[in-house]
Amino acid sequence: MSQAVSYSIQDRVGVISVNSPPVNALSQPVREGILDAVRQAQRDDSEAIVLHCQGRTFIAGADITEFGKPPREPHLPTVLGALENSSKPVIAAIHGTALGGGFEVALACHYRCAIASAKVGLPEVKLGLLPGAGGTQRLPRIAGVKAALDIITSGNPVAAGKAHDMGLVNEIIEGDLLEGAIRYARELVESGAPLKRIRDIVIDPATIEPGFFEQARKRVNARARGQIAPDRIVSCLEAAVELPIDQALERERELFRELVTSPESAAMRHIFFAERQAAKIKGLPKNTPEREIGKAAIIGGGTMGGGIAMCFANAGIPVTLLEISDGALDRGMKIIRKNYGITVKRGKLGEDDVKRRMGLIAGTTDYAEIADADIVIEAVFENLELKKEIFAKLDATCKPEAILATNTSYQDVDAIAAATSRPEDVLGTHFFSPANVMRLLEVVRGEKTADDALATVMKLGKRIGKVCALSGVCYGFIGNRMLGGYGREAQLLLLEGCTPQQVDSTLERFGMAMGPVAMGDLAGLDVGYKARQSRGTAGDDPRPYAVSTRLVESGRHGQKTGAGFYRYDSETRKRIPDPEVEAMIREEAEKFGIERREIDADEIIARCLYPLVNEGAKILKEGIAQRASDIDVVYVFGYAFPAAKGGPMCYADQVGLKEVYERICGFQEQHGGKNWAPAELLRELAESGGSFAEWDRGRV
Ligand code: 3HC
Ligand code: NAI
Repeated sequence: MSQAVSYSIQDRVGVISVNSPPVNALSQPVREGILDAVRQAQRDDSEAIVLHCQGRTFIAGADITEFGKPPREPHLPTVLGALENSSKPVIAAIHGTALGGGFEVALACHYRCAIASAKVGLPEVKLGLLPGAGGTQRLPRIAGVKAALDIITSGNPVAAGKAHDMGLVNEIIEGDLLEGAIRYARELVESGAPLKRIRDIVIDPATIEPGFFEQARKRVNARARGQIAPDRIVSCLEAAVELPIDQALERERELFRELVTSPESAAMRHIFFAERQAAKIKGLPKNTPEREIGKAAIIGGGTMGGGIAMCFANAGIPVTLLEISDGALDRGMKIIRKNYGITVKRGKLGEDDVKRRMGLIAGTTDYAEIADADIVIEAVFENLELKKEIFAKLDATCKPEAILATNTSYQDVDAIAAATSRPEDVLGTHFFSPANVMRLLEVVRGEKTADDALATVMKLGKRIGKVCALSGVCYGFIGNRMLGGYGREAQLLLLEGCTPQQVDSTLERFGMAMGPVAMGDLAGLDVGYKARQSRGTAGDDPRPYAVSTRLVESGRHGQKTGAGFYRYDSETRKRIPDPEVEAMIREEAEKFGIERREIDADEIIARCLYPLVNEGAKILKEGIAQRASDIDVVYVFGYAFPAAKGGPMCYADQVGLKEVYERICGFQEQHGGKNWAPAELLRELAESGGSFAEWDRGRV
C-alpha cells in the first residue's frame, strides 16, 4: 500500500485512512492506496469499510497538478468501481470539503456520513472541467436532475445539513467523526442494510419536463462568458436520463477528455494556482511574524469606506468608521444598512446576521476612539494633501505597531508614508468597488514597509475573503495603470469605424463581464470629465475623450442620467443603441480627419487587450508585479477579465508572444506615437520564443 493510505481493522470495521497533505487530493499514490486497501478488505474478516481522511479535509478532488501529464494507473474510475462493487458496505466519513473527485469517491460508496461543518460539491466547472468520474451520473440519481444541474453548473459546495436534507449524505455525525462512522457502520451491518449502489437507480425520463435540457443549455450558455464546460455538463445530464449508465459514463469520460485538453481549462487551472501563488511574497521567510488584528478602523465612510467596513464586519472583526461630521457618518451608516438590506431581500443573509454584523460597526468623528485599532484604512477623497494630513493625525494618535493603510487609487504611497514618523507601518490596501463584493485586494508595498506589516495584511486579506496580489508603488499600481490603454483604444475604435455595441459585444463574447464603452456609462462619464478638467488636458491627444466630453456636456453622464454612449431603459436598465450618438461619433471622426472603415472582431480584441499585455510586461520588468500570474489574478478578480482566458498575460501566452509582439509593432507602424511602443520584456520573450509562464518559473 502507498504511504499516503493506511488500512486497519477497528471493531470489525476496515478503516481506510488517507493521509496526503495538504488536501488529500487523488494523486496516483492515493488512488493506488485506496484500491489496494479495498481489495485487502474484501479478503479479511472486516464486515464493513469506512473511508476516512486525516488532516484538514476529506479528499478535495483529483490532483490538479496531474492534468496535462500522461495519466498513471490506477485510473479513478477503477478505484470507484472497486468501492462500488465491494461485497461489504463502504461508508465515506466526510469532514472539511469533499470536492470534485473526492465527492465522486463518496458517491461511489454505499453510504455517506459527515460532520455538520463539512461541505460537499462538484466544483470542476470552475476549472473549465466537468466531473469526470461519474459525478454527472451518480449525483442526478440521488439529488434529482434539476438539483444536480444547479450543483454541477454552479460548482458551489453544499453544506452537510442541506446535503443531508437532499439525501446526498445519509447521516450527520456528532462528536469524533471516525468513532461515529465506525458506530454507524456497525449499525448498518447489524441491521442488515443493503449495499446501496447509486448506479442502480434509474431516472424515469417521464419526470423530466419536455424542453428541460434545451432551456438549461440556453440558460447556462447565456452566462458562460466564453466557457464550454457548462454546455458539456448539460450533455452529460441528458445522457444520465437517456442512456444506460455504462454508456453515459463513457460519454462523460469522452467530454471530460475534451475539456481537460482545452485552452479554457488550462487557463482556469492557471488561475487556480495563480491565486494561491499571489498570496506569497517572494523573499519573505515563511516564519515572518504577524501582528494580531483584532480591531480595525476606517477613515471615510463613503462608497469605499462603507464597503470595506462591511468586509471586516462580515469576517467578525469589530470596526470603527471615522467620518468628518455626524451628518456624513449618519449617511455612511445608512448606506451600509441599505446594502445589507438588499442582501437580505435576495435571501442571502438573515436579519439576525445583519444585526450581528451591524453590531460590529461603530461610528465616530473622534480620533481618540480609534487609537487602539490594530489596522486603520484611510478611504477619504482622492487628494494627496488631505491624505497626508490624515496620516499625520494617525501617526499622532494610533498605538505603536498599528498598521496604517491607504485605499488610494493613484497617489504615491511613499509620500503618504513620509507624512508619518513610522513609514514602516504604512502600506496601500487597494480595494475594488463594490468593496464588499469584489474579490481583489491589491496590497501596495511602500519603499519602507516592514515585512511583518505586509505578511499581516496578506493574511488578513484572506481572512476577510479577498484574493491578494502585491504591487509596488507606481501611478495606478498594477490594475489601473494597465487600464489606460484598454479604454483609449476602445474610444479610438469608435472614431475609426465601430459602433459602441460592436466594441462591447465583441469583448463580451470574448468573456469580459461588460464591454469598455458600457463600463464607462456604468462608472459615470462625468468622473473622467471632472478629472480632465482639474488636471488640464493641454498636450494630451484629444481623440480618446472627444466623444465622451461631448456626451457629458450634453447632459449624458451614463446610466445615472439614463443616457451616455447608450440610452437606458428606465426599468430594466437595458442598454439601447442610440443613432444620435453614432452621428456624434461620425462628426468627431470627421473633425479629426479620420476615415472610417470596417473593423473586425479580431482587430477589436487585439487593439483593446494587447495594451494590457504590453503595459503588464513593463510592470513586470520594473518589478512592480512579482509575477505575470499575479497580473492575471489582478485582472480576473478585480476587472472581471474572463477566468476562461486566464488573465491578460496567460491569454498572450496562449496566443503566442511572437504574434502579440508583431501585432503591437504593426499597430505602432499604423498609428505611430508612443502608445504602441512595445515593452522591452515582450520583445525579449518574443524573440527568444519564451512565454510569461516561463519567465515566472525562472523567478518564483
Ligand atoms: N490538487 C492539487 N493541489 C491542490 C488541490 C487539488 N485538487 N486543491 C488544493 N491544492 C493545493 C493548493 O494549490 C495549495 O497549495 P500551496 O499550499 O502549494 O499553495 C494547497 O493545496 C492548499 O490549498 P488552499 O490554499 O486552497 O487551501 P484552503 O484550505 O484555503 O482550501 C480547498 C482548501 C477548499 C480544498 C481548496 O484548495 C480547493 O477548492 N481546492 C480545489 C478543489 C477542486 O477544484 N476539486 C476538483 C478538482 S478536479 C476533479 O476532481 C476532476 C474529477 O472530476 C475527475
Ligand atoms: P467617496 O467620496 O465616496 O467617500 C469619501 C468619504 O470620505 C466621504 O464620505 C467623506 O465625507 C469622507 N471624508 C472626507 N474627508 C474626510 C476627513 N478629513 N476625515 C474623515 N472622512 C473624510 O470616495 P470613495 O469613492 O469612497 O473613494 C475613497 C478613496 O478610495 C479614494 O482615495 C479613491 O481613489 C479610492 N478608491 C475608490 C474606488 C471607487 O471605485 N470609488 C475604487 C478604489 C479606490
